[in-house]
Amino acid sequence: MRALVTGCQGFLGPFAVAALQRRGFAVVTTARRGGDAAVDLVGRGMVDAVLEAFAPDLVLHLAAQSRLDACERDPAAARLVNVVLPAELAGRLGSRLLAVSTDLVFDGRGAPYGERAPVAPLSVYGATKAEGEERVLAAGGRVARLPLLFGPDAHGRGASASLRRALLGGQTVPLYTNEYRTPLHAADAAAGLAELLPLCSGPAVVHLPGPERLSRWQFGQRFCAVHGLDASRLVPVECQDPLRPRDVALVGSWRAERSFATMLAEA
Ligand SMILES: NC(=O)c1ccc[n+]([C@@H]2O[C@H](COP(=O)([O-])OP(=O)(O)OC[C@H]3O[C@@H](n4cnc5c(N)ncnc54)[C@H](OP(=O)(O)O)[C@@H]3O)[C@@H](O)[C@H]2O)c1
Repeated sequence: MRALVTGCQGFLGPFAVAALQRRGFAVVTTARRGGDAAVDLVGRGMVDAVLEAFAPDLVLHLAAQSRLDACERDPAAARLVNVVLPAELAGRLGSRLLAVSTDLVFDGRGAPYGERAPVAPLSVYGATKAEGEERVLAAGGRVARLPLLFGPDAHGRGASASLRRALLGGQTVPLYTNEYRTPLHAADAAAGLAELLPLCSGPAVVHLPGPERLSRWQFGQRFCAVHGLDASRLVPVECQDPLRPRDVALVGSWRAERSFATMLAEA
């Protein structure tokens, strides 16, 4: 089976490619600035060109405008990537498309959120991802919602890498005590996505929650304890940002194989 991974140059991309290869897929990749085909997929005719060139059996769609600030600054551009692009892919591929979405489609007032919970996004990022989901599902595609991801990547991206860098650099790090997520190691998220990708007749929406519900502050404390870092540099702060939901803990039938402690040790 040939699997195409879009957005392969992002934080999750390399984890996803490795997980698919471990499951025996022949993997082809695309991103704006890298992969087997470096293309801007929102460009006219680009989706058809890439699908024709690679003829994938299945597509794992990761490409997104995932920066909250960039989405707020330019909602029209965010909508092109987060709504129009997955809709176009789903129109071509139906259930052979697995599009990745986010816990930020929820407003934080109804946690824990199961797969059937109604979406109510607070930010442009959340709203465009929610509309993207709706368009994908209407075209017969599938959606996997992910929580906050962490884990080491080659470029030092992700929640745990930036925390480690700041602490080792002697900085104090403000962390929200009132923003709860179900964080998941990117390798475990990728393993879950690789498991789901071939299940074309499976459920249309699947959640991949991490094993525990934690605030960012609790995450920082646990991370410091596991890695012997100085937790006294973590500063507890209350989030007041109206665009950030306070509790978007996910639940679902999928379970990560590893415990949170094991994931943290590898972060
Ligand atoms: N990271 C998290 O904690 C998290 C949590 C929940 C859900 N998610 C979702 O998981 C997916 C992957 O997240 P991520 O953190 O890996 O994202 P990321 O680091 O922001 O990477 C996004 C990828 O999309 C590509 N891309 C963006 N616009 C494109 C376009 N117009 N044409 C082609 N490629 C384009 C980028 O290519 P270039 O790098 O070449 O520009 C990059 O490879 C996203 O759908 C995101 O919404 C992520």
